[in-house]
Amino acid sequence: MKNLISIKDLGIEEIEKIFSLAKQIKKNPQKFSRSLQRKSFALIFHKPSLRTRVSFEVGVFQMGGKTIYLEQEIGFSQRESIKDSAMTLSRYVDGVIIRTFSHQLLLDFVQRSSIAVINALTDLLHPCQALSDLWTIKEKKGDLKEVKIAYIGDGNNVCNSLIYGCAKTETRLNVATPVGYKPKSQVTSHKSQVRIMNDPKEAVKDADVIYTDVWASMGKEKEKEIRKKDFQGFQINKELVNYAKPDCLIMHCLPAHRGEEISDEVIDGKNSIVFEQAENRLYVQKAILLWLMEKK
Ligand code: CP
Ligand code: NVA
Repeated sequence: MKNLISIKDLGIEEIEKIFSLAKQIKKNPQKFSRSLQRKSFALIFHKPSLRTRVSFEVGVFQMGGKTIYLEQEIGFSQRESIKDSAMTLSRYVDGVIIRTFSHQLLLDFVQRSSIAVINALTDLLHPCQALSDLWTIKEKKGDLKEVKIAYIGDGNNVCNSLIYGCAKTETRLNVATPVGYKPKSQVTSHKSQVRIMNDPKEAVKDADVIYTDVWASMGKEKEKEIRKKDFQGFQINKELVNYAKPDCLIMHCLPAHRGEEISDEVIDGKNSIVFEQAENRLYVQKAILLWLMEKK
């Protein structure tokens, strides 16, 4: 059974297959309107979501399948063990889309499931986001090997998945974080093109894309105030953007905290592709589902 847990587990040919499906789906969505007929997917979300949940639910619907959204009621490892939930769901649905805190919990589920599992974000990774973002960059800029991305902010789940994605697609990536917020060494030690630094100005120099995300991710809300102080100088604003190439694209996975990690002027500016980036999640989620449902 195929899963999407981490981009680290994908081969470049699998990534290219997902990109190619996304392109076809975006061009001619009608062609795929029956591709998931009689397929059902459970969504288990322990954190809020707008883009990921809606794009998966709408994506499955538009391809003729069915989703079941499960929130608190199944309470992993409270009402019953993860392994019992995984073994039961495997007998009902074709795939499970999980957003949760602990990455280990997701891995425990995968170990006992016999259906496709999609990581819809954990504290460690957000692979669907990074795949979609790299495809968006490819759509805009062409060959990913010729592109330089600067990620400015927290070394979080989105950053980790971008690091894995850039390693696979051979895209150059600079990551600038405040001291103490760099991505985990288990991620950066992976064969990659990433350069880790603490100076946002140095990171954006000659960048084709500047990418940021919130300073306090879901689950880190208590650290919000301290992080605001620690991340001073890491806002994507006009002054910082001036250090990059004039046609440098601005990306943010959203939700954004305007006035914190990004200024209104930049997120609403002419180089921002933030909402196209969000739109593309729909095509890439559909592509991921189709790729997973293909027989091995
Ligand atoms: N970018 C993203 O995953 O958004 P949501 O948290 O709203 O799903
Ligand atoms: N890093 C953010 C991403 C949200 C899509 C979070 O985990 O909250």
